[in-house]
Amino acid sequence: MKLAILGSGFIARFYADALVGQRRKDEITIVYSRTLENAKKFADDYKVPHYTDSIKECVSHKEVDAVIIGLSNDMHLESVIAAAEAGKHVLCTKPLGRNAKEAYQMLQAVEKANVTGGYLEDLVYSPKSLKSMATIQSGAIGEVIWAKSRETHPGPHSDWFWDKEKSGGGAIIDLGCHCVELCRNYIGKNVKPVEVMCWADTRVHPIDAEDNAVALVKYENGAIGQFEVSWSFRGGMDLREEVMGTEGTIWTNNFLRTGFEMFTSGKGGNYIAEKAESNSGWLFPVGDEVNELGYNHMFTDMFDAIDNKKQPLENFYDGYVVNAILDAAFVSAKSKKWEPVQIDDWRGVAQKKVQGVAALW
Ligand SMILES: NC(=O)c1ccc[n+]([C@@H]2O[C@H](COP(=O)([O-])OP(=O)(O)OC[C@H]3O[C@@H](n4cnc5c(N)ncnc54)[C@H](O)[C@@H]3O)[C@@H](O)[C@H]2O)c1
Repeated sequence: MKLAILGSGFIARFYADALVGQRRKDEITIVYSRTLENAKKFADDYKVPHYTDSIKECVSHKEVDAVIIGLSNDMHLESVIAAAEAGKHVLCTKPLGRNAKEAYQMLQAVEKANVTGGYLEDLVYSPKSLKSMATIQSGAIGEVIWAKSRETHPGPHSDWFWDKEKSGGGAIIDLGCHCVELCRNYIGKNVKPVEVMCWADTRVHPIDAEDNAVALVKYENGAIGQFEVSWSFRGGMDLREEVMGTEGTIWTNNFLRTGFEMFTSGKGGNYIAEKAESNSGWLFPVGDEVNELGYNHMFTDMFDAIDNKKQPLENFYDGYVVNAILDAAFVSAKSKKWEPVQIDDWRGVAQKKVQGVAALW
């Protein structure tokens, strides 16, 4: 696959680490960044032959098969439309939109252009998530009645996240999108989410958006998806899931307590893990972060889907449903009531499309 990357920040570098790692044959052909200086730095670091400060030039590059979007949330819609209009497959980071309306426009853009729209929800592709999903699909824990997902850390690294206009919200949109989609995969993507009850508050940071939230998402079969998110949790990044079924239970811990503990006086000052708050004392590194966070399996599924003209496990329709659930959470946080999930285009087809979770694993 020949790839264009939009963005040269945190996630673009994570993606590039996965894309050019482990003798992959895929190539990053061109990178876009707002300044040529940043684009060139990224190109030099990852041996990318072309770089530009024009989105149009990047997505239209004649050699490129697929465009990967790693820009701030306010740039997703415009970038998806540009890539789709250039006839390229589009893989967009999370959250797909700042709201369901934007996400739906993106879904329509890829469908109109007849290109693949891959939703880069990496945590669904972590080895632990894939194994959990395959286990659930085999019936090993019976019917899932309650799936809970937690993502908390001290707060994001770039200014735009804290600006509600650019991000679309606070911890709910930034972290809740991961949790909602993990729970959907555990409960079953063909089960319609119907209503949401959410508490959210701004407790710590001087921002308009929420920095803490808890929500319950009710599904039409009675299952509950629960998310807990925070931008003020201290001590690193806490990523955990619990799935409760009629015949069994799954607990996963993706960060902080992965069975890898290390002590250092801090003399070396090395990178420990994403959002780690300290590089001395007792530390909890992650062995291979790119793999443990799902990036390798995610890109493999995306490129296989493009090659085989199939939908990837995580696609733009999923991104749209996630945004619709989060929209209801924002309304509920204000009304303090259960609020309906508005999905005008319910397809209920995701599970039919989702073949091969076990094969992926
Ligand atoms: N696990 C994940 O999947 C994950 C993790 C982190 C971030 N993300 C997502 O990746 C996206 C980028 O986040 P990040 O952490 O890389 O942020 P970042 O601030 O590190 O990088 C953002 C990039 O967007 C560019 N950008 C910002 N505003 C722009 C504008 N107005 N016009 C053009 N370019 C602009 C910046 O120059 C930079 O290249 C967000 O949508 C975020 O939610 C996903």
